[in-house]
Amino acid sequence: MAEGSGTSIKGGADITNPIMLQLLEQKRRVKEALKGVKHKIGVYSAKGGVGKTTVSVNLAYALNMLGFKVGLLDADIDCPNITMFLGIDQKYDESYPLKPVDVNGVKVISTAMFIDDIKKPVIWRGPLIAKMINEFLQNTKWEELDYLIVDLPPGTSDAPLSIMQSLDLDGFVLVTTPQHIASTNAIRSGRMAKRLGIALLGVIENMSDGSGNGKMEVSGALECEVLGSVMKNEKFNYFSDRGTVPVVNDESIKEEFLGIAKKLAHL
Ligand SMILES: Nc1ncnc2c1ncn2[C@@H]1O[C@H](COP(=O)(O)OP(=O)(O)O)[C@@H](O)[C@H]1O
Ligand SMILES: [Mg+2]
Repeated sequence: MAEGSGTSIKGGADITNPIMLQLLEQKRRVKEALKGVKHKIGVYSAKGGVGKTTVSVNLAYALNMLGFKVGLLDADIDCPNITMFLGIDQKYDESYPLKPVDVNGVKVISTAMFIDDIKKPVIWRGPLIAKMINEFLQNTKWEELDYLIVDLPPGTSDAPLSIMQSLDLDGFVLVTTPQHIASTNAIRSGRMAKRLGIALLGVIENMSDGSGNGKMEVSGALECEVLGSVMKNEKFNYFSDRGTVPVVNDESIKEEFLGIAKKLAHL
């Protein structure tokens, strides 16, 4: 080893480098906070508005209906919408550890719980985003869970990268729509996450027109499984605006998401 190069660990990281040491310590603490969670699954696409939050919420409740213990982590810092989708208004002060809220059987925590006014924009830059995310992840006390569903932020830069790296996700599902633009962005996102070494568990076509174009394009390009489709349905807006979960209130939506959840859980 060259003089002054420090001690290398697997992958070439220098463990005498203070920044590297800090990162390793952060990762260790996040791992400790999540040690009771069997499967951590991200819901992701670089494009906004394709239904990441809709899929995260309904997938979490569908898995819960199948008898699993489920947690739901809203990690979208810029637009944390899960509390609105679930009609909850819980706020946290600075006291740690943070405890997820039980909402009809699913344990939920959101970055929105730290923001006084949900209508105010959240403007954080790179290092602050990473700091905030790490603090949030390290200090949340999850109990034993079969699945933790993570609603990831859109984009392919700081926020999704920091979360994927800090959380050590077991895998992620991609959300697309039948639109070519959505599939193109889903493919880009998929490639980015795969490059970080996170397993791609499959693609879901949301707002489907029944053609299957979006899911076929993504699964063909990334050679991944198709987990299912969710038809375009105005009821999603209706239920979400009232803070109620579509999957527990509508039979056809329930069938769609139970199919996806079973495939994901290999049932
Ligand atoms: N299958 C669907 N059919 C119709 N509208 C949908 C469907 N899925 C989601 N939506 C609506 O589309 C909008 C964007 O969904 P959202 O889950 O917030 O996307 P993202 O989290 O990717 O930004 C919301 O108004 C939501 O109610
Ligand atoms: Mg969202």
